[in-house]
Amino acid sequence: MLALNLHHTAIAVHDLDSTLNALDAMFRVGPISREVVEEQGVEEAMVPFGGSYLQVLQALDEDTPVGRFLSKRGEGIHHLAVQVADIDAALSHLRDVGVRIVGDGPSIGGGGNRIAFIDPSGLNGTLVELIEVA
Ligand code: CO
Repeated sequence: MLALNLHHTAIAVHDLDSTLNALDAMFRVGPISREVVEEQGVEEAMVPFGGSYLQVLQALDEDTPVGRFLSKRGEGIHHLAVQVADIDAALSHLRDVGVRIVGDGPSIGGGGNRIAFIDPSGLNGTLVELIEVA
């Protein structure tokens, strides 16, 4: 599997607007995109930091993966995203080496990118997303 880039780090927050205001005040950076992604149950913004992004996630409601994360663990780092050239090949490789994948396979994330999540047991409790950029 070819890992191209650490594409983004995602944080889960209660208030996307106030977090974007804080990032502007701290680093003078703003989002290059902001969208509701119903399939993932989030409203998300992508904020560029050099060659990588900070993804800011707000849950659409409590009964979503990010909503449950916020209830259980509070705000903070939610996942790391590794960019791959071919997500189907990456998932096949991971299954071959015994790594558990969350769900059935790729789904559609923000920007129409194909994404999948590796079970946190695969990397010391850290949730890792694979992203094939459209
Ligand atoms: Co992500």
